[in-house]
Amino acid sequence: MKLFVSEGNPHCLKVLAALGVTGVQCDVQYVNHEERVVPFLSRPTLPALLLPSGLHLFSSNAICRYLFEVSGKDSSERCNQWLEWEATDLQPALLQALHMAVLQGKGSEVSKVLQGPLNYLDQSLSKGNTPYLTGEAVSVADVVLWAALYPILSDSSLALGECKSVKTWFDRGAAVMCSFQAAAQKVLQGKGLQGMKSYMQRQPAPQSSQCRDTQSCNSNPAEGEEGERVVSEEEMEAAAVTFSKGLNACPLATNRQHPILPQEGKRNLLVTSALPYVNNVPHLGNIIGCVLSADVFSRYGRLRGWNMLFVCGTDEYGTATENKAREEGLTPQQICDKYHAIHSSIYKWFQIDFDFFGRTTTEKQTEIAQNIFWRLHKHDFLVEDTVEQLRCESCQRFLADRFVEGTCPHCSYPEARGDQCDKCGRLINAVELREPQCKVCRQTPVIRSSKHLFLDLPKLEAQLEQWLDKSTSTGDWTANAKQITRSWLRDGLKPRCITRDLKWGTPVPHPDFKEKVFYVWFDAPIGYLSITANYTDKWEKWWKNPHQVELYNFMAKDNVPFHSVVFPCSLLGAQDNYTLVNHLVATEYLNYEDTKFSKSRGVGVFGDMAKDTGIPSDVWRFYLLYVRPEGQDSAFSWADMATKNNSELLNNLGNFINRAGMFVTKFFEGCVPAIELQQEDKKLLALVGWELQQYIQLMDKVKIRDALKHILNISRHGNQYIQVNEPWKKIKGGDTERQRAGTVTGLSVNIACLLSVMLFPYMPTVSQTIRDQLNAPQSCINAMLQGTGTFVCALSAGHRVGTVSPLFQKLEVDQIEALKKKFGGQQPEDEPPKKKKTAQTAASTQPAAVPAPLAEVAMVNGVDPEKAKQLTLAVTEQGEKVRALKAQKAEKAVITAEVTKLLDLKKQLALAEGKSPEPAPQKGKKK
Ligand code: MF3
Ligand code: ZN
Repeated sequence: MKLFVSEGNPHCLKVLAALGVTGVQCDVQYVNHEERVVPFLSRPTLPALLLPSGLHLFSSNAICRYLFEVSGKDSSERCNQWLEWEATDLQPALLQALHMAVLQGKGSEVSKVLQGPLNYLDQSLSKGNTPYLTGEAVSVADVVLWAALYPILSDSSLALGECKSVKTWFDRGAAVMCSFQAAAQKVLQGKGLQGMKSYMQRQPAPQSSQCRDTQSCNSNPAEGEEGERVVSEEEMEAAAVTFSKGLNACPLATNRQHPILPQEGKRNLLVTSALPYVNNVPHLGNIIGCVLSADVFSRYGRLRGWNMLFVCGTDEYGTATENKAREEGLTPQQICDKYHAIHSSIYKWFQIDFDFFGRTTTEKQTEIAQNIFWRLHKHDFLVEDTVEQLRCESCQRFLADRFVEGTCPHCSYPEARGDQCDKCGRLINAVELREPQCKVCRQTPVIRSSKHLFLDLPKLEAQLEQWLDKSTSTGDWTANAKQITRSWLRDGLKPRCITRDLKWGTPVPHPDFKEKVFYVWFDAPIGYLSITANYTDKWEKWWKNPHQVELYNFMAKDNVPFHSVVFPCSLLGAQDNYTLVNHLVATEYLNYEDTKFSKSRGVGVFGDMAKDTGIPSDVWRFYLLYVRPEGQDSAFSWADMATKNNSELLNNLGNFINRAGMFVTKFFEGCVPAIELQQEDKKLLALVGWELQQYIQLMDKVKIRDALKHILNISRHGNQYIQVNEPWKKIKGGDTERQRAGTVTGLSVNIACLLSVMLFPYMPTVSQTIRDQLNAPQSCINAMLQGTGTFVCALSAGHRVGTVSPLFQKLEVDQIEALKKKFGGQQPEDEPPKKKKTAQTAASTQPAAVPAPLAEVAMVNGVDPEKAKQLTLAVTEQGEKVRALKAQKAEKAVITAEVTKLLDLKKQLALAEGKSPEPAPQKGKKK
């Protein structure tokens, strides 16, 4: 085994500490920051541990955990929770603190940033009342936290408040980790915190949300960055040298040759976005959650020179399609054909550049799904059980939960649905409903029992967990994805029904289940494989090749459990060396203004309407990506879109690029002037280079929204540079002045070129337009995003630019007001007001019980502002009535009856407003 570490990198402290404590035999090799130790990773990732098998581990916490395992100490669940806390809560704060202390010289403010996590740690330690975090002995959790805090806690100049328990624990650790002290000296080169300076300079600027209450941080990271970044002389010189190298050494952009297959020696990335339901027009929230995010990442990856395949397609089977067909008087096949075409054209308009956009209703789907089914069967991962279901004899079909209505067995509400009661909020099993009715024909359904097949998740659980541990620690899973997955596993898995009594689905090939089809959530993810199979016969090179392929799944968070638990279990159980997800990227929800998107209420912008607004596709993309719900829910807002368009696109980005191009045209007859770099220019180069590096680091981690801000920072720097240097004045001066104007112009127009490249994933058309206007060489497009990012001079002196013209248009207030009104949520005429509250998740129809996280999601769908207005009135009226009766001293029974009515109305109101009625009826947690 060999451990690669580098000086100045605080993460290396952790692994060295773990090595010391466990005493595992292992070579330690110090390498340079930039060294690519892991050959298939395009970015240097340290520390890294080379295992005897030839594989690498390259997350510091995973390495620590591994070292403990090798030495025979398994990490407990409690340890894992601490490691997770360290990664998601402590690290961001630490990074912020180190950034302040090391780069900004604000050591005095470090305590503010760290107080929260330190208090938490302190309380846990004092409550736990054991010498170490998880008990009487040192565990991996102690080592990781201890080493993470080491640079800060061992620096006496930082006043860190009164955390007594932390202090005792830290000192106790120092005694145990004596061998580590020497290693720490080496990593920090005996310079304490300052030993990390050059490492810290390469890290993305920490997010300011961590320091909302320290005045030194700006509340809005987009506008006005963290003051002046200090740029060192060396950085400036290095940036100047890189810039002057020019484009020469860069490989030419190559066109994609289909079919794309994994290649030896390349980073092979398979990118999927959740397959959208065919029976609906996607809204903006759907678009940002899956296809748009995946598109940005795929475009970026291609520029990075990675070998990428991006596939998607429509999810076509299931009850929802059958019902849509019934509604529209078409066959399910016709519905699929119609809506598949609608989806395709929407995505085309949004410039989603799939390598292949397929569908799930194909022969390959049947073939592959049935093959997986038989393999699961052969390996004994399917169990049979009898399920009671409601069947409507007059419609001749089993009723999915959403298609039965009846009286709630708990609160007697007469319009309870088959899965949940909207009044008391309790989950219901459809067969328990009193006086059930078929929602289609209003006949009374009968209870029928029927045999179904279940995927034996409990039997696969151990395997799943083992795989998950590895995947989540080595890949880039978003925090919500990890958390949702953990909450599913916490309560233990139950068998999941994979068959349905429907017609529109992939047939179950087993002779005992001839009339049945697969449940969509068993079937749909197999669509990823079958869609790839429809793209190339060699699909198995992608899907049965985990060692050569890295799989990225993009989705909204409601899809997480199916991609992290259920589908991986299908594939693990089928045992055919499948490629399982390495990076699960889930967005939160995008709201519409201050409510939710709703097709039935006509609220929100749907994919097919965006083009009718006259706002260009690129601007839509920009704004959606700017508010991408990354880390927390966010909202689409018309006013905000106008503001961002007018300030960021028009005044900042567009203005800079246009000015740069116009100076060349107007002052230098369209030819880029000679550039003679002075200190000030070199400083700009360093600043721009740094933003570029941040962009690359964030994009590599799929932080799409954060990376976008760094593009805008560059044009902000650029505008400022032009403003200070005033080339329009200098051009009228003497020789030296004119030369200065030339340099400023030449540098600016090169920055514009760099911006066009960085913009390519976000705004492909604008990106191309800029390069056309600048007449930029093709090769610049993938030259600057190699390695850690190199800003080179792509338009050298004498280069002739094309015709320069403005890139963006102002969005006017009245235009925006009109659009806002148009999409604000009136009832569309063709749909009756109160119809189908189809859950966005459409998670579980029939037999399987609704799992807890999905139940939470389903609650959200009761929101109904119209109804809420009426109910508010009713509550007021009823309140007055009660007060009047009380004033008249009416009979107690009469008053009680009216009070009951009032309470009832209030509950309904709460539901219509999307709040949970008091007292909360569900055992589940409230938000
Ligand atoms: N159709 C589902 C949705 O829109 C997503 C299916 S993803 C798949 O929520 F992997 F199952 F295909
Ligand atoms: Zn019926």
